[in-house]
Amino acid sequence: MRRFKNILVTGGAGFIGSNFIRHAFERTDFDGRIVNFDALTYAGNPRSLSDIEAKFGPRYRLLHADIRDASAVREAMERFEIDAVVHFAAESHVDRSIVAPDDFVQTNIVGTFNLLQAARERGGALALFHHVSTDEVFGSLGPTGFFTETTPYAPHSPYSASKASSDHLVRAFHDTYGLPTTITNCSNNYGPYQFPEKLIPLMILNALEGRPLPVYGAGLNVRDWLHVEDHCEAIWTVITRAESGSTWCVGGRNERTNADVVRTICEIVDRMAPPLQSGAPRASLVTHVADRPGHDLRYAIDCSKIENAFGWTQSYTAENGFDQTVRWYLDNHAWVDSVRTGAYRDWIEKNYAAR
Ligand code: NAD
Ligand code: TYD
Repeated sequence: MRRFKNILVTGGAGFIGSNFIRHAFERTDFDGRIVNFDALTYAGNPRSLSDIEAKFGPRYRLLHADIRDASAVREAMERFEIDAVVHFAAESHVDRSIVAPDDFVQTNIVGTFNLLQAARERGGALALFHHVSTDEVFGSLGPTGFFTETTPYAPHSPYSASKASSDHLVRAFHDTYGLPTTITNCSNNYGPYQFPEKLIPLMILNALEGRPLPVYGAGLNVRDWLHVEDHCEAIWTVITRAESGSTWCVGGRNERTNADVVRTICEIVDRMAPPLQSGAPRASLVTHVADRPGHDLRYAIDCSKIENAFGWTQSYTAENGFDQTVRWYLDNHAWVDSVRTGAYRDWIEKNYAAR
């Protein structure tokens, strides 16, 4: 088992990164320090970790900094004597990558390169560089079959192409320079603290507010939904136990069409929240809109490698995971309102501008 003293988590103010930091402090035996290196883009919300900051004070530190800045990356690694990097920071939304791919290249490719270079300069002091990647690097499946660790790369969107590039750089640094690395490629995550540009939180909040629920095309694209806490446990398992140079696919064993996901969310919101003023069921808000260009038909992961090697498995089923997530968005008004109104940006300016 690897043990770490000082972990640099990049993108820890985002959805999965913030869940990972919470997981490390509250659900593992980790007793070191985490430095959260985050540029606080529109997707970064340090409020997601206010409770962790209050509880774990000196062992948790937010550094407002950008992975596109090579010297900031190098300085942080040296100053905080980093012995592990868990790299989440990325531009992560496919739709944005279609409209404005530039930041995806700069952050996801150049930013990852900067981190790898700085990690390499740490020499033997660096125990592990872990890259959090996506199953979208493998492209699209037809109606059958699964992605595995040996599926060839065939990305289609600027987002997935940028993540594929960064995966290749991570492997190249392992093979060429002997940098200790691991990679996880996971399916679509859902759960608490997800920014409402992604399908599930967008549908939950729009359904609550009685707004239209935009489903791309016929809604027949399939995604394999993984609860974020199960993903974080898989990452923790890999960083502490997997051998350097290895890659792991992590999935939810929970394939659904988008239409089915949206229908299920509507039913849960109808059950948990007061009815719409019109009295109509939320499913009546579904609006089919123009399809996404290059929309991958189906993603599905065979995660038997991580299950067999480490006994990792999903703790959430689709039913209790979706229920728990809707309940979380209903119960966490302060977080939801700050994100919905954009007030979290003012809060960042006040609390973090000077750091
Ligand atoms: P997110 O968009 O919620 O968060 C990204 C975080 O990175 C934000 O806090 C943002 O401020 C930060 N960031 C962006 N650019 C930065 C930069 N230049 N320097 C420093 N920080 C920067 O993303 P997420 O959904 O939490 O995804 C995290 C990682 O997991 C990403 O690498 C993504 O590709 C991968 N992933 C996500 C999913 C998913 O379903 N969300 C699935 C598979 C893989
Ligand atoms: P998304 O959450 O953006 O994740 P990804 O594109 O990385 O899979 O989208 C999930 C699926 O939902 C995808 O097939 C696109 C679809 N989708 C909609 O139909 N409507 C929406 O408003 C959004 C955001 C996504």
